[in-house]
Amino acid sequence: MNFQTLLFSTQNKIATVTINRPDKLNALNATSKSELKQLFEHIKTSNDVDVVILTGAGEKAFVAGTDISELTSLDGNSGKEFSANGQEIFDAIQHLGKPVIAAINGYALGGGCELALACHIRIASENAKFGQPEVNLAILPGYGGTQRLPRIVGVGKAMEMILTGNPIDANEALRIGLVTKVVPLSELMKTANELAQTIASKGQLAIRMSLKAINMTMETPLSEGLKLEASLFGVCCDSSDMKEGTKAFLEKRKANFLGK
Ligand code: COA
Repeated sequence: MNFQTLLFSTQNKIATVTINRPDKLNALNATSKSELKQLFEHIKTSNDVDVVILTGAGEKAFVAGTDISELTSLDGNSGKEFSANGQEIFDAIQHLGKPVIAAINGYALGGGCELALACHIRIASENAKFGQPEVNLAILPGYGGTQRLPRIVGVGKAMEMILTGNPIDANEALRIGLVTKVVPLSELMKTANELAQTIASKGQLAIRMSLKAINMTMETPLSEGLKLEASLFGVCCDSSDMKEGTKAFLEKRKANFLGK
């Protein structure tokens, strides 16, 4: 597949998606958003992909936000639509049904931070910087940031980040649980690939059911979440992968998972 603003490659069931506008610090414009939508629709149904790594081109930015030049003409109605459209694309990433690892290689600001928040695992390079600087433009985070950031880092820290617009560095992001690993930039993609390989080596039905159950914590009370967990546990117990995984353990051999 060929795109103007994205690079896409697949190896050993691991897809790498790179947002490729390095001269604009990978800011998301209309083309990149529509290409992201199209590519993730393809990945969702592709038998060649079990895990996705999402990153930015160059050594300076993951994504430095939505493209500010496309904001200036928005009014009340078009602004609402603009926000809902971005939310829909990022929601499709969160509900892809396959794990997406954000490999954050520099600035993750505004829509860039929100894009990382829609991914399932976030790891960062030491030079990464995170922030929701929308208030500097007299807007608020409109691609899910007001909802996902507090759910991931807690209301207090999200309030501070969103109300001040002040960025935080990679170590602070690690401390507050916004990312789970910080590594030198030169090791970022290797680390992301190792994580992806670990996940890809497991029974993929169990991975998909785990994603579904964990995603629901964002949306349901505990009592409903526990019911869902029990029924998804049942789905896994019905699978041939589960029989193979438990049998392989008892026979002291590596499991051969088929994803069903
Ligand atoms: N939208 C559009 N263009 C952007 C952009 C964005 N969000 N972020 C960076 N760019 C462009 C710059 O305009 C510049 O383009 P130019 O070379 O054609 O002038 C290019 O990317 C490089 O950015 P520059 O500002 O020169 O780099 P820097 O190292 O001095 O500063 C940042 C880096 C990230 C601090 C700065 O670019 C910035 O504050 N960007 C906006 C971040 C933001 O507010 N995001 C949320 C938007 S809702």
